[in-house]
Amino acid sequence: MKIIGFNASPRRNGNTAWAMGQIMESAAEAGAETRIFHSGELNISPCKGCLGCAKGGGCVVDDDMREIYAALKQSDGLVLGSPLYMAQMSGQAKVFTDRLFAQITPRFSPRFNEENAGKRLILVFTQGNPDQSRFQAYYDYTRDMFRMLEFDVQDFIVAAGTRGGQASENTELRDLLREAGQKLARGISTY
Ligand SMILES: Cc1cc2nc3c(=O)[nH]c(=O)nc-3n(C[C@H](O)[C@H](O)[C@H](O)COP(=O)(O)O)c2cc1C
Repeated sequence: MKIIGFNASPRRNGNTAWAMGQIMESAAEAGAETRIFHSGELNISPCKGCLGCAKGGGCVVDDDMREIYAALKQSDGLVLGSPLYMAQMSGQAKVFTDRLFAQITPRFSPRFNEENAGKRLILVFTQGNPDQSRFQAYYDYTRDMFRMLEFDVQDFIVAAGTRGGQASENTELRDLLREAGQKLARGISTY
């Protein structure tokens, strides 16, 4: 089982990196091969909409997404973590999602695993607002959007009330994240 993570927070040691770290660590402990990409250390441009990818050779943009495309093709699961920015995913998460277009078929299923159907996906959001349900409509929409892209959304974790680095002190949250990582590695879906 190969799992890659994309941390869509610019902060290398922020709440999102911590939350993703818990998932990836526990997945590794359960036997998965894991690799995490931190957007803050990468150069990833927005999609140019050139449709160069439609010619069949993949994305024509030469940047760090090339390495992620290669890793994604070989992976069984993806963990996408984002801080909530202005009540939505971060710009880095949106650029990453748009760039997946190069590996999406005309019916919007992932090109990289047509044979396997449905790459496993865990979504993790961190938000400053302590009210877990405040942005539920947006989170539901986001889950459905990734389902439309035919990802097998296995879990959706919201770490709320992260101001002042409180997320890492929340043992209940840590257990939830670690359980999600174990389930991902073992192919068990929460949904
Ligand atoms: C530009 C920006 C916009 C934000 N917008 C929201 C928001 O709309 N709602 C919210 O609850 N928190 C918001 N936050 C707080 C972050 O979501 C929260 O601190 C998050 O855990 C940061 O993740 P990080 O430590 O991985 O960078 C915002 C933070 C920033 C920097």
